Amino acid sequence: MTSIGSMRGEAAVSQRTTKSVYEAIVRGIQTGRWLPGGKLPSVREMGELMQVNRLTALKAYRQLAEEGLVEAKYKSGYYVHKHDSKAGVSPQEEQWDYPARSLYVNRSRLSDIHRQQVDFQMSEALIDPNLLPNAYLSNYVKQVFDLYPRVLSTYSTVLGDAELREELAGFFMAQHGISVRPDELLITTGSQQAIDLVSRALAKPGDKALIERPTYSPAIDAFQQQGITLLPVAITPEGYDLDEVERLMKAERPRLFYMNPTFQNPTGYTVPAEQRKRLVELAERYQCLLVEDDVYHDIYFGSPPPPPLFFYDTEGYVLYIRSFSKYVAPGLRISVLAARPALMDAIAPVKALSDNGTPLLNQKIFQHYFFSKRLQEHVAKLRTALELRKAVMENQLSHTGWEWASPDGGLNLWVRLPDDIPVEELLRRALSQSIAFVPGSICDPLGGMNDRIRLSYSYLNETNLAEGIRRLIAIAEEIRAEH
Ligand SMILES: Cc1ncc(COP(=O)(O)O)c(C=O)c1O
Repeated sequence: MTSIGSMRGEAAVSQRTTKSVYEAIVRGIQTGRWLPGGKLPSVREMGELMQVNRLTALKAYRQLAEEGLVEAKYKSGYYVHKHDSKAGVSPQEEQWDYPARSLYVNRSRLSDIHRQQVDFQMSEALIDPNLLPNAYLSNYVKQVFDLYPRVLSTYSTVLGDAELREELAGFFMAQHGISVRPDELLITTGSQQAIDLVSRALAKPGDKALIERPTYSPAIDAFQQQGITLLPVAITPEGYDLDEVERLMKAERPRLFYMNPTFQNPTGYTVPAEQRKRLVELAERYQCLLVEDDVYHDIYFGSPPPPPLFFYDTEGYVLYIRSFSKYVAPGLRISVLAARPALMDAIAPVKALSDNGTPLLNQKIFQHYFFSKRLQEHVAKLRTALELRKAVMENQLSHTGWEWASPDGGLNLWVRLPDDIPVEELLRRALSQSIAFVPGSICDPLGGMNDRIRLSYSYLNETNLAEGIRRLIAIAEEIRAEH
């Protein structure tokens, strides 16, 4: 006779889908049950483990292999994809393989690529210095010293210069209708520091966090460095699958969701307004903080993007990070983090430990420069210049069969390559010919996406951009011909 318990068990078995097996394997990899480079259970064993038939287990493995998360080895089975964490590490560094260092997998790879002096720089999401009005900025430096002769002999407060925060509060009200008090604003040394502060102040080792897949790769490192388990949420041109987000929030109880919902790095996708409102509701319901990283908000090509999620937040679940570093003056490293008092009380002491406040001189130069009419006019011209560069890149790529969704803002194209062009091989040869781009796997919290690349169109002028892409395509064709 079949007991009720086992009947329930059988019902559960038959309902298990490829998707849930896929997710269970991903979780197993994330939580270290199966380690990078290690062998996974055979298809039969996995079927038994997951209580599904072999075909379902096989389909899950195939999907994981397609995405580059696992590798299929002929006659041997399936293995967890191995991160190439030592790429670019010198022999001395290899001897000193501190555990802390080895966590910076993406950052070390990325800086390794950036470190190379190349003629065709398409790996850094940075704006061409020729597009920034540097001479004009230098007038402001002089003006600031005249206005505040003691600026270099004074510390900033931990939260940042009071006048600047006052003006930024006014800016958020004027631009977005967001009401935020100056004491709810913290000036940070770039958004990178804001992400780091949040990861240290608001989560503890063992906590879970949702993160977009793909994402801004140094954020992966920042959270992993704190021992936080990352649960990926796919981002598409339509935004997120909100049912999936809700399922994860309910089942996994993540502490936070780090997101870059406007002209996302690396994809350029923007999460639509309807989803933003609903995400804030979900955050409240499941008590999951939303860390909204908004670096590219002002770099749009048509109409402005939807308001930030922070706009919809009435209960204090959104932390809003707005960087001006990309288009005002990257060297000043000025960003602002907005958070309601309960969260700010936790973050400000960590900022104090980190640097006691962002340099006052930078804040004052930024304040006078950013709110000038001249800079605001300049941003409008910058948008046009960047849109033109995007068009040049897209035009060059248009006959390749490479795929991307044309972004309405930001600095990057997220491109899918045909299967017969291995990205690592393309990168190796491109670097040797003075061309740089970012391989997609760096942006994937699961280390897959091996068929994607990120190409930045913001750094090179139009002539060099066209030439760089032309040469990159030629290398890809060469690889294809050889295979
Ligand atoms: C999504 C995202 N967040 C943060 C940063 C870091 O910005 P910042 O220069 O303000 O530190 C970048 C820079 O590329 C980025 O793309």
